[in-house]
Amino acid sequence: MTDDLLGRRQSALAPSYELFYDDPIEIVRGKGVHLYDANGKEYLDCYNNVASVGHSHPRVVEALTRQASTLNTHTRYLHHSVVDLAERLEVKLGGDLSSAFFVCTGSEANDLAVRIARNVTGHNGVIVNDHSYHGNSTLIDQLSLSHRRPGDRVPDWIGVAEAPNTYRGTHTGGGAGVHYAGDVRRAGIRLRDSGVGVAAFLVDSTWDANGFLNAPKDYLSLAARHVRDLGGLVIADEVQAGYCRTGETWWGFEDYDIVPDIVTLGKPMGAGHPVAAVITTPEIARSFAEADSYFNTFGGNPVSCEVALAVIDVIDDEQLLDNVDIVGAVLRDGLEQLSRTHDIIGTIHGKGLFWGVELVGDRETKEPMSESRVNGIVSDLCDHGVLTGTNGPHHNIIKIRPPLVFSEADASQALEALDGALVRFAQENGNCS
Ligand SMILES: Cc1ncc(COP(=O)(O)O)c(C=O)c1O
Repeated sequence: MTDDLLGRRQSALAPSYELFYDDPIEIVRGKGVHLYDANGKEYLDCYNNVASVGHSHPRVVEALTRQASTLNTHTRYLHHSVVDLAERLEVKLGGDLSSAFFVCTGSEANDLAVRIARNVTGHNGVIVNDHSYHGNSTLIDQLSLSHRRPGDRVPDWIGVAEAPNTYRGTHTGGGAGVHYAGDVRRAGIRLRDSGVGVAAFLVDSTWDANGFLNAPKDYLSLAARHVRDLGGLVIADEVQAGYCRTGETWWGFEDYDIVPDIVTLGKPMGAGHPVAAVITTPEIARSFAEADSYFNTFGGNPVSCEVALAVIDVIDDEQLLDNVDIVGAVLRDGLEQLSRTHDIIGTIHGKGLFWGVELVGDRETKEPMSESRVNGIVSDLCDHGVLTGTNGPHHNIIKIRPPLVFSEADASQALEALDGALVRFAQENGNCS
């Protein structure tokens, strides 16, 4: 059945699509933190942040089916749900971030955010961190440097700032925040001097495509100051970082003590339903509206808004922010323990319910473990019923980013499985990369 489906998929879908794991799995059902394949095998989902409140949460399913069986239109009629959602997000974001646009994907949100920043500042240049990922529209694909192929030229309207990697970057000691923020400033000055100017710094405060980075605490506030001095806006891409993912706060940018000019939301917002948003200040929104118009056929439709409202309710009612802190601490302690027993763990990145386990061939040289070996470990975990993924510039980081309803028992199961996979790897490979 799965082999047949694989063959049909390969001929029916564009070859750009990829599948996870050496032996792709056919998932047919999900509930909470578990996914089930076509043979009924259960997997612990340690990967999918989109199912933020868990797979098939009954309150999300109820909101979706109730609204879908009542009405679905667009934002050109009055409807309370889109207003309710904008107001709920305004309260969550606080401050002056109170003017909302609704779209369907994180890519669309970032595309619109850059368009707003260009309109409002009159500048064209955008600064991003190296190896960042922000989406797939033609504009945002160019800003997603993780997708750059060798030899690809970075357009002259993009300023590249080194990602604040205190494990592998050009500065790993004290003063790293000043050092990496200085690179944002240098990228901005290059844009200014070349005549394109600085419209925005677009930043994901998990640095997901880098395998999650724990940036120096002062990095973003210093970088934001440089960007604003050069006349640009700060766009916080909260598609990964938002919705309690990193614990302690609802939003990733709060952890770095900055208030962005524009915030973009996506993935976890609809727990699997496509809903995303751009939120900015009334002043910026007014200035954009004077220069440009915006309509999105599906963005802000009542079904998506009811789903997004249900997700916020579940996070609040089930106290999932507290859960992230409690279970995140179990994962942190367990991963640190594993790094003491497995030499191939170079370092642990992460926070809350988002962790990157960086594998190396040699701890001294930090030589990355080869992609095929890391994939082998992740496929072995899958064979043993635990779903993770890989990422990072060297594809040597195991990504653990489960639904927010992950429990302490789930964390222990995941840690035990990872320990087992690393032991099997060491037995088969004699501890080499
Ligand atoms: C940080 C970040 N921004 C934006 C996006 C794009 O979101 P979407 O795939 O919904 O277009 C992604 C997707 O992975 C992302 O990780």
